[in-house]
Amino acid sequence: MCGIVGYIGNREAGPILVQGLRRLEYRGYDSAGVAVIDNELTRVRAVGKIDNLAEKLKDFNLNGKAGIAHTRWATHGGVTEANAHPHISCDGKLVLVHNGIIENYREIRDRLKDEHKFDSETDSEVLVHLIEDHYNKLESVDDDSRLRKAVETALSHVRGTYGLVAMHSDHSDCLVTARLGSPIVVGVGDSEYYIASDATPMLAYTKKVVFLEDGELAQISKSGFETFNLKDEQIVKCVEEIEWDDEQAQKQGHPHFMIKEIFDQPTVFEDAIRGRYDIQEGTAHLGGLNMTEEEMHKVDRIVLIACGTASYAAMVGKYAFERLAGIPTEVDVASEFRYRDPIINEKTLVFAISQSGETADTLAALREAKRKGAFVRGIVNTVGSTIARETDGGTYIHAGPELAVASTKAYTNMVAIMLLYALQFGRSKRLSLATGQRLLHAMREIPEKMNKIFELNNDIKKLAEKYKNYKDFLFLGRGINFPVALEGSHKLKEISYIHSEAYPAGEMKHGVNALLAEDFPVFALMTKNQLYEKMRSNIEEVRARKTPILLVANIGDEKARELAEDVIYIPPTMELLEPLLNTIPLQLFAYHVAVLLGRDVDRPRNLAKSVTVE
Ligand code: F6R
Repeated sequence: MCGIVGYIGNREAGPILVQGLRRLEYRGYDSAGVAVIDNELTRVRAVGKIDNLAEKLKDFNLNGKAGIAHTRWATHGGVTEANAHPHISCDGKLVLVHNGIIENYREIRDRLKDEHKFDSETDSEVLVHLIEDHYNKLESVDDDSRLRKAVETALSHVRGTYGLVAMHSDHSDCLVTARLGSPIVVGVGDSEYYIASDATPMLAYTKKVVFLEDGELAQISKSGFETFNLKDEQIVKCVEEIEWDDEQAQKQGHPHFMIKEIFDQPTVFEDAIRGRYDIQEGTAHLGGLNMTEEEMHKVDRIVLIACGTASYAAMVGKYAFERLAGIPTEVDVASEFRYRDPIINEKTLVFAISQSGETADTLAALREAKRKGAFVRGIVNTVGSTIARETDGGTYIHAGPELAVASTKAYTNMVAIMLLYALQFGRSKRLSLATGQRLLHAMREIPEKMNKIFELNNDIKKLAEKYKNYKDFLFLGRGINFPVALEGSHKLKEISYIHSEAYPAGEMKHGVNALLAEDFPVFALMTKNQLYEKMRSNIEEVRARKTPILLVANIGDEKARELAEDVIYIPPTMELLEPLLNTIPLQLFAYHVAVLLGRDVDRPRNLAKSVTVE
C-alpha cells in the first residue's frame, strides 16, 4: 500500500520518477506527487491516478537530478491534494514520502503544533516536521550527514511503521531513506541510484539491488551510498542481483496487465516447477524447505496462512497435503490467525503464502508462529520481500512481476508449489512411486491444457456479454472445486463490483437455495472428479428453480449440456490438479465482465495490491 520512488544521478529525475510511479500504481492510486531539487525544490501533487499528475506536470519544468515521488492509498486522512505526498516542512526545504502508519502521530503533532504549521490530516506529515525540528537543532553539522542524523533522531521518537525517503534543498546530492515494517529497495546504477517500495520501477535501469532491513537507513548520493542503523553505526550491505526483467513488467501489447498475466500462466507455471522435481523418483526437491528427513517426519500438522486469493490457493494446498502426504492441514486467514491463540508447536510446519511477501497480516501471523516454535517457511513471489526474508526457508513461486491488483498467475504458481511440497512430503512417507510419477506427468501437461483453455477466450467473452448485467452471482463447487468457486467469486467481485458468493454445492439445501431465482445466475464447476455425480444432482436442483446456469465441464461431457445452456468445455486432468485449469475460465469471465462494464480492471476501486497495513 502506497508506493515510493526516489532517484539521484546525472539524469533528469522527473520522467524517471513518474515512470516509476506508473510501475507502482498498483500499490495505491488515490493521489500522487513528486518533488525534485534543481536549484530549488519543486513539488507537484494531484488527486487520482498518475495520469492526473502527469498532466499537471506538463506545466512545470522539472530539471533536477534528484527527486522523490509517491502514489497513495489513503489510510489517515481523505483523498485530497493536501493529504497527498510529498509532505513539506515549514521552511519549504525538506520533503518526505512515507509508506506505513505512524501510531503516535497525534502525540507528536500536539508536541510540535505551536511551532509548526500542519497542512494535512495525515499521520505522515508529522514526520517531515519532526525531522525539520531535529535538523534545525543540528546546526553544528555542516555536511550532508546532517539530514541523515536528523532522520535518525526523529525516527527514534516514532512508533509505527515506515518506509520513507527524505530530501532537503540545501543537500541536493543527498537522499535519505529508512525502513521499519515497510519495504525499501535501493537500486544501484552507474553513478545513479534508485529507491522504491519494490524493484519493479528500477528494472529498466538496473538489476543490482540492496534490500534495507527493518531499522536500517541509507544516505545516498550519486557517487555512492552508506547504510546505518538507527544508532548511527555504519553497516555493510550486500548488493544482490534480481532475476526479474523489465519486459515481464510490461503489458506486451495486451490492453491490461490482468489479461497479460492470465496468459502468462503456462509459461510461469513451467518456471515454477522447472528443476524442482524428479520424474524418475516420482518426487519433488524443493531445497528451500530446509529441513532434514528427521525434521520432516516430526511434522504432525501443517498450517497454511495467507490472505485473499493466496488463502484460496492454500485451500487447494490443504487437499494436496492431506491426500499426498497424509498430514492434517489447516488453512488460516492470516488476519484471524493471530488473534485466536492458535495451537502451534515445534511439530507444526507453517507456510506463509503471499504474492507480495509484504502483506501485514501474513507477516504478523508468521512472526507469531515463529514465536511459538513452529517451522516457518515461505511460499512467496516477490524476491527479497519481508516474508521471504523472515521465514527460515521456503520457495519462490517464480510468477514474475504481477502488477494487476487481481491476482491470477501468482495463484496458479502458489498451487503448483504446494503440490510439489505435498509430493515431497508424501514420497518421504507413504506415497507410492507410481502415484508420484503420475502426478508429475500430469503436471507437465498443464501448460498445454491451459493454452487449450485460452482458445475459448472469445466464447467466454460472449458469455460475459450475456451475463454482465446481472446484479448477483453464485459460484458453486464441491471438494477441490470449492476453493476454485471461492476464487472465481472473489475475482468477479473485486474487479467488476458485482455481488457474488461462493458455496460448497452440498450446502445449498441448508439455506442458500432460498436465494435461487431467475435473476441470480449460478456459475458451477462440474468437472469429472470423485464428486462429479453429487455435483450433478446439486445442479439438477438448481435447474429446477429456473436459475440461469453456466457450467465449467470437461470436454466430452454431453450430460453437462442437458443441465445448462452455457457450458465451458475444458480439458480434464487429475483431480488434485484441477484448480490449475478450472480457475482460468473464471479469471477470463471476471476479466471480460469488468472490461465490458467499463471498470478499471487493473486498479479496482478501494483496493491496493500490497496490503501493508493491518
Ligand atoms: C485478489 C488479491 C488479494 C490478495 C491478498 C493477499 O486478487 O490480489 O486478495 O490475494 O491481498 O496478497 P498477497 O498474496 O500479496 O499476500
